[in-house]
Amino acid sequence: MAGITEYDLVITNGVCVTASDIAALDIGICGEKIALLAPSGSLAKASTKRLIDAEGGYVMPGGVDCHVHLQEPNMFGKGCSADTFETGTRSAIAGGTTTVVAFAPQQRTEPSLLAALDAAHGLARGNCYSDYGFHLLVGNAGEQALNEIAKLPERGVTSLKIFMTYEALQLCDCDILSVLAEARTNKVLTMIHAENGDVLTWLTDRLEKRGFVAPRYHAHSRPPLLEDEATNRAIALAELVAQTPILLVHVSDAGATRRIREAQTRGQPVFAETCPQYLFLTREEHLDGPHGFEAAKHVCSPPPRDKAAQAAIWTGLRNGTFAMLNSDHCPFNYDDNFTGKKACITEEFPAGRFRHIPNGIPGVETRLPLAFAAIDRLDRLPLTKLVEVTSTNAAKLYGLYPKKGALMPGLSDADLVVWYPNEGSAKSSATLDGLTITNSMLHHDVDYTPYEGRGVTNWPRYTMLRGKVVWDRDGEGIVGDKGYGQFIERESSTLNDIWQRVEEAGPFDEEKL
Ligand SMILES: *[C@@H]1O[C@H](CO)[C@@H](O)[C@H](O)[C@H]1NC(C)=O
Ligand SMILES: *[C@@H]1O[C@H](CO)[C@@H](O)[C@H](O)[C@H]1NC(C)=O
Repeated sequence: MAGITEYDLVITNGVCVTASDIAALDIGICGEKIALLAPSGSLAKASTKRLIDAEGGYVMPGGVDCHVHLQEPNMFGKGCSADTFETGTRSAIAGGTTTVVAFAPQQRTEPSLLAALDAAHGLARGNCYSDYGFHLLVGNAGEQALNEIAKLPERGVTSLKIFMTYEALQLCDCDILSVLAEARTNKVLTMIHAENGDVLTWLTDRLEKRGFVAPRYHAHSRPPLLEDEATNRAIALAELVAQTPILLVHVSDAGATRRIREAQTRGQPVFAETCPQYLFLTREEHLDGPHGFEAAKHVCSPPPRDKAAQAAIWTGLRNGTFAMLNSDHCPFNYDDNFTGKKACITEEFPAGRFRHIPNGIPGVETRLPLAFAAIDRLDRLPLTKLVEVTSTNAAKLYGLYPKKGALMPGLSDADLVVWYPNEGSAKSSATLDGLTITNSMLHHDVDYTPYEGRGVTNWPRYTMLRGKVVWDRDGEGIVGDKGYGQFIERESSTLNDIWQRVEEAGPFDEEKL
């Protein structure tokens, strides 16, 4: 071919990092796709509409955050998501995340999953800055919902989530088994929030009787054993239904991690994610101690654990027990008496009541910088691991690969994060000031960040989504357009060939038990 390629965008002088390799390479982008990877500097003079000099900074596939709650209805009595699809995805791109998978929540009072999916589309369409997908959140596993699971894959939804806790959402074991069986038949991955809801209610009642209602008692009401037991039960139920693949979300403690690791060692298709709050927050520092009501800023479920648990979670991330580090961005305003953390303050309980604090914290924008800083400074994990757990594995597990999570010419979308060159890098003209996280620098619509005052070492300098620069930190910041983000139809999971293994095992048959 004699033709001379004209690129739409070239990134030169960067150091590309994928889940498997680190190499100095230039990237040529045509339209929405990565067109070429070439030796460093070789595209500096190529014909291109725009040239970006990465100055030795790392260039990675855009972050894929598959645990994000946006614009969900009030499901827990008190509190509403502070972020809309617009503000949540705006926050995502400013933190280097180009794809989010959010939830389409089915309320307990609704029979249909497809109606819940339509409703979520209605909220997201035309409003997103990042690409997006949906997991179905099953709040009512009735006959209609179970029948509709078969229709999800043709609508580009290949995962659903169920809860073993929360009065408004908790499924009994019978319902969990029905969902698992139906999901298995249709190659839909089941995500499980594993905490024992009945134990939680029992402990909460006892704590309240003794007047222990302050935010810090949230941790007393959900000790690690709740998570350990429910994790073990989830694994056992999935094993019963002919080894249905499951994903344990937001794993926080050593006990649950051990259960997961043991199941994986036995060859059971059990996957797990952890979240920044279990790597960077602790119960001692952020819930106990002299915080008073401010501890509510760190109330999420499971709660931040102790230092020993934190160390075990880091080890699990390093050794592959956790496939992913997702944010579980679940934002509520702090200083809001009606829909925020302070909604639990009443005349009868002027110091608040932990059982009514909306559970969740924001974190979609801070996820990548926090992980990068920890790796950069403490060498906790190699940089390839950062890409693996924040992008590539999520893309594989949720059927987005190699469109997302990779830098494959011709196949991968040109979704990229370009970081600043590391300190001391010879020719940097870039500006990297104010690298302490403060809420005012973030782009969510939440009035606090749980990471206020924490130092980080780098920040996404540019974020690109399908060939377009959408975040330019030294320029005008958010330069993407609301509505540029597209709904991405997902295929079935390809991580570890899980569905191939299920097919080989044949259908679930109770007669064989
Ligand atoms: C991996 O890490 C988990 C969590 O800390 C631990 O329980 C497990 O023993 C580790 N496995 C190996 C093989 O190192
Ligand atoms: C919230 O409640 C507190 C005390 O109950 C009150 O002082 C404050 O003015 C209220 N704020 C709003 C915005 O209503």
